[in-house]
Amino acid sequence: MVAGHIQLAVNGLPLDDDEIMLNCYSLILGGDETARLSMVGAALALLEHPDQWQALKRGDAGIDTAVEEILRWTTPALHSGRTATTDTEIGGHPVREGEIVTVWNASANHDERLFDAPGELRLDRTPNKHVTFAYGPHFCLGAYLARAEIGAVLAGLRDLVAEMEQTGPAKPVYSNFLSGLCALPLALKAA
Ligand code: HEM
Repeated sequence: MVAGHIQLAVNGLPLDDDEIMLNCYSLILGGDETARLSMVGAALALLEHPDQWQALKRGDAGIDTAVEEILRWTTPALHSGRTATTDTEIGGHPVREGEIVTVWNASANHDERLFDAPGELRLDRTPNKHVTFAYGPHFCLGAYLARAEIGAVLAGLRDLVAEMEQTGPAKPVYSNFLSGLCALPLALKAA
């Protein structure tokens, strides 16, 4: 019995079996697919922006800012939905209790009111207040692990790879929730 080993309580109530399974599902899905999409997307972004690839290699862009820009650029989780628990208003639009409101993270990450030239990949971009990991109480539990993984891939490409070449067609993931590539054949030449 899974629940027997879990002592967690939310608002004084233990999680039920469905909630525990849902959290396990979030951990498995969140921990696997999304970060991978960002890392594959990082390779494609560097291929398509040779100036940024060189900036990374020269050290003109650091790993920390590059990770945040790759997260903004790739936005693997396109949207998050919530059900309104009461009548309210968002940006002048009435929202009724029970209605579902969806935030399109990919759109917010290209908001020209917040980002200077959002359509440009700038690995030294700062500030970079993207919402790739969402916002609020359900902010991504694995954000720091994902950042470490993407940082390790970028540092590896920077330090160990002299040249990258695409050797076959990229395949997009088939999803209206996740965004990115499930395949990107590459040949890497060692530095
Ligand atoms: C680039 C990589 C990642 C992206 C883009 C991402 C994106 C997100 C987003 C947008 C949410 C909020 C969903 C919502 O508000 O409805 C979320 C939540 C979550 N993520 Fe991630 N995630 C990433 C990596 C990870 C990793 C590595 C893990 C685990 C090892 C993870 C585990 C979770 C969990 C458990 C939640 C639910 C948190 C909660 O409901 O309180 N994620 N993630």
